[in-house]
Amino acid sequence: MKLNDIRAQYLEYMRTQDHVIVPSGRIIPDNDPTTLFTGSGMQPMIPYLLGDDHPEGSRIADSQKCFRAEDIEEVGDNRHTTFFEMLGNWSFGDYGKKEQITWMFDFLVRKVGIDPKNLYITCYIGDEKNDLSQDTEAADLWKGLFASVDVDADAVEIGTEAQGYARGIAEGERIFYYDGAKNWWSRAGKPDHMPVGEPGGPDSEMFYDFGTPHDESYGAHCHPNCDCGRFMEIGNNVFMEYLKKSDGTFGPLPRKNIDFGGGLERIAAAAQGTPDIYKVDAFSGVIVRLEKLSGKSYDDADHTFAFRVIVDHVRGSIFMLSDGILPSNKEQGYILRRLLRRAMFYGTQLGLDEDVLVQLTPEIIAAYEDAYPILVETRDMIIREMKTEEEKFHKTLVRGTRELHKMIERDGELTGEDAFVLFTTYGFPLEMTLEVVEKRGIVVDRDAYESEFARHRDLSRTASAGKFKGGLADHSAQTTALHTCTHLMLAGLRKELGDHVHQAGSNITEQRTRFDFTHGEKVERDVLDRVEAYVNDAIADGMVVEMLQMDKQVAKDEGVEGSFWEKYPDTVNVYTMTGKDDVVYSQELCGGPHVSDATEIVGTFRITSEKSSSAGVRRIKASLE
Ligand code: ALA
Repeated sequence: MKLNDIRAQYLEYMRTQDHVIVPSGRIIPDNDPTTLFTGSGMQPMIPYLLGDDHPEGSRIADSQKCFRAEDIEEVGDNRHTTFFEMLGNWSFGDYGKKEQITWMFDFLVRKVGIDPKNLYITCYIGDEKNDLSQDTEAADLWKGLFASVDVDADAVEIGTEAQGYARGIAEGERIFYYDGAKNWWSRAGKPDHMPVGEPGGPDSEMFYDFGTPHDESYGAHCHPNCDCGRFMEIGNNVFMEYLKKSDGTFGPLPRKNIDFGGGLERIAAAAQGTPDIYKVDAFSGVIVRLEKLSGKSYDDADHTFAFRVIVDHVRGSIFMLSDGILPSNKEQGYILRRLLRRAMFYGTQLGLDEDVLVQLTPEIIAAYEDAYPILVETRDMIIREMKTEEEKFHKTLVRGTRELHKMIERDGELTGEDAFVLFTTYGFPLEMTLEVVEKRGIVVDRDAYESEFARHRDLSRTASAGKFKGGLADHSAQTTALHTCTHLMLAGLRKELGDHVHQAGSNITEQRTRFDFTHGEKVERDVLDRVEAYVNDAIADGMVVEMLQMDKQVAKDEGVEGSFWEKYPDTVNVYTMTGKDDVVYSQELCGGPHVSDATEIVGTFRITSEKSSSAGVRRIKASLE
């Protein structure tokens, strides 16, 4: 059965069980600032699991677009993707375990056509310390269902993953009890990891056995939670009934809920009998296209990794763009940019220098457009954004890759200093350097890279002290702090108003910054408020300031912000302000001085006035209060 048919059949099946089918929420959570992306189908359902009434009733189902940024570097094996769809159904205090388990068996076996002999089940073993009981009810339900189709299904206790590897599976065993590390679900993981107020519960997971031989490098014996590739988890029935209380014990939620989540791509892989998710029908169009473009084969082991990364990243990027995320140096936009750049980079590994992203987009949209018409509505915008990113990054990529290979050929190795030069002189990020060299079995000394970084930063700090006046009345702590805030403010203005905004002059004293910038009309107060918030958020995020000397052309190509480029020498000083999770708040050409990090900025940043300065130039005054 094809991926699109499985999605449609699942939703239809749930409709016949009286569920209301709701559209997928966006890939960015609507009211949850704690996470950048929706990472599981239940995320939009949290309020209802905690007790609110869902407007559509107590039986809901959907297919939710999900993205897991933490998996970016896992992509490349046969099962990881960053973007995926999660089929989901929920009971908010309505039906229970019996219905859920019966329907799942029926759906997988009778609708999708999965052979029950290839299905394996795990259940929760219980936890005396936390007074949580063993889920024999779920195991008994599964036993009955397997018996109804004449399949042996003994239930046995395994406990931990390590015990699974030590013990393996005996003839006739099909249902396995594991501990809370495996068979308990909450957003924070096992019971002991749940924060106060978090909902969670025991779960029962369904695995598909591809029958591939066990790989002993994972452990002596295979078992459902083994990672060798024989078993793949295709769905998880969570019995969401508990709430972590402030005294550390587990109390009941207002209602007993069911939270089911099943990876659509994985169910399709099982239905299509392929342990390689990228061989599922929805990927075939784009893979054939990439084979044609590159003249290389997906099945050639030298190229499979690059194919998977490109296809995964382009697909994820398309869904992000269609949900309104744009490439930037911040938050979701930063992850999107990282995906696009990694896809381009792996394109060069396949010998493709140009337009990889744009050329693969139509095949991906074609595979998903029936379920997600938004992809068609936003197609032109998607292609435009990809083109812009490709143009921006292309030169850096080609030049950096060439220099990197030259360095390796010259010395047979790549030092931390080389990696540093690749970054500062060629704009080639360390992450990509590492990816190239590690594949060739070369190890880069990261410590040497870091110390080179620190040495240059310190050198350039000393060099800049006292040397540039650059609109600063003095170099006191407060003036310097306001200067750093002025950079953040310019980045915030560019984010809100657009890339036409550049500095047109500045004057900074201990009391205030006066800043002129290119923009034709009045900036409304609500926009100024958002710019203020941008600055204060960066401070609250504990951003650090780093200064590097870079090749001027590289800095320009990299999108470093600056005015009066022609006045600068060939090597320029670039100040980068970075928060947690490597989020770049500002990157600008400058003579300094700046604070080292947010702790040196005391007070809240306020924009006190905004008015015209001259034709096409506005003037802002702002201070730290
Ligand atoms: N919330 C459960 C999961 O994501 C279903 O696996």
